[in-house]
Amino acid sequence: MPESRGYTIQLEHTCVRKTPPLDRSHYILVGACLESFLKKDVVTEFLDYIFPKNLCIHSHNHMVNVITMIYLTHLMILITGSSGQLGSYLMEGVKNSVGMDIIPSNYTEIVGDIRGDLENMLGDYEINAIIHAAAQVSVVKSVENPKFDSDNNVMGTINLLEYARKHDVGQFIYISSAAIYGEPQYLPIDEDHPKQPKSPYGLSKLTGERYSLLYGELYGIKVASVRPFNIFSPRQDPSNPYSGVISIFVDRAKKGKELIIYGDGTQTRDFVNVHDVVQLIKLALEKKAEGVYNCGTGRETSINELARIIISLSGKDVGIKYGAPRAGDIKRSYADIKRAKEIGYVPTTNLKEDLRRFFFR
Ligand code: UD1
Repeated sequence: MPESRGYTIQLEHTCVRKTPPLDRSHYILVGACLESFLKKDVVTEFLDYIFPKNLCIHSHNHMVNVITMIYLTHLMILITGSSGQLGSYLMEGVKNSVGMDIIPSNYTEIVGDIRGDLENMLGDYEINAIIHAAAQVSVVKSVENPKFDSDNNVMGTINLLEYARKHDVGQFIYISSAAIYGEPQYLPIDEDHPKQPKSPYGLSKLTGERYSLLYGELYGIKVASVRPFNIFSPRQDPSNPYSGVISIFVDRAKKGKELIIYGDGTQTRDFVNVHDVVQLIKLALEKKAEGVYNCGTGRETSINELARIIISLSGKDVGIKYGAPRAGDIKRSYADIKRAKEIGYVPTTNLKEDLRRFFFR
């Protein structure tokens, strides 16, 4: 059950009081009672809300008041970038969410730009948390057009933060990037590692993150920033020239085309499946976490190894061609994930198995 400052205050003042631990039968009784006049999923959400807090509904009237309030207030979590790779999985995994994206899709209710008139676009919603996953995500594109990149990633973020401030949005989760670190000075990369982005994209993501954390300090919003390493999923579009190495390799291998490795292929990355990223973001949301969290697996895989795995899964006789190293490419990268583990994150990524499951079944 979502919760905003306003909602909690109303609950505490009008309907519910804290009591010593109650046994489960009490909640079962409340649930059975509610099911006589409410949809089952609303009852489940209601119980999910009161049970962990050990809250007691202590009269029938109180209960009716609370339920009415749940119906009327209709609190929602806004997910920006809901048509994107990560955003679409977040829409599937986060309850009571409403999606916003400039590109229409099945996951997006509000088609609009994060730099636009948010008051107007979000007028029908009572937003109590924002997961900000909308961004210009391409490193290469950011070099070609840094103004477009910073306009989206910095100004767009500030526009959302201003909305959050004006509307008392209690929680803001910023989706950052491992690109903010630049060339690693030591491995694994922890959250305190120096930030020396090597691209306009890295710099704009870092700036957006700093604005978010600053708004947390200035206005009491609970802000967490999640820094994914190399996300992969079947929803990354290989036809996009800025797509990630996994979707490019899979696409080429399936078509029987040779894979092109930039440099000698010994460069490494921490490939994390999208479900793990959703897992960490949901934990940050539920625990109202604050601060910054790396999101990866804590393991590195070389591009040579990745190419071998994909070729073997494809079952095709595909060769590898080595080309010039890509300008600005970092050599090795993998995450220290201690901090994420402290809030309950357990990565489940198994690169070979996931690649098989996602692409070769
Ligand atoms: C990726 C993300 C970036 C994110 C960053 C976090 C993508 C497209 N980019 O950048 O948004 O912020 O991680 O660290 O997901 N390669 C080849 N052949 C190819 C394609 C790539 O050899 O056909 C190599 C690249 O040179 C690079 C490695 O594979 O060394 C990974 O490249 P890529 O998937 O583009 O990701 P990053 O550059 O790590």
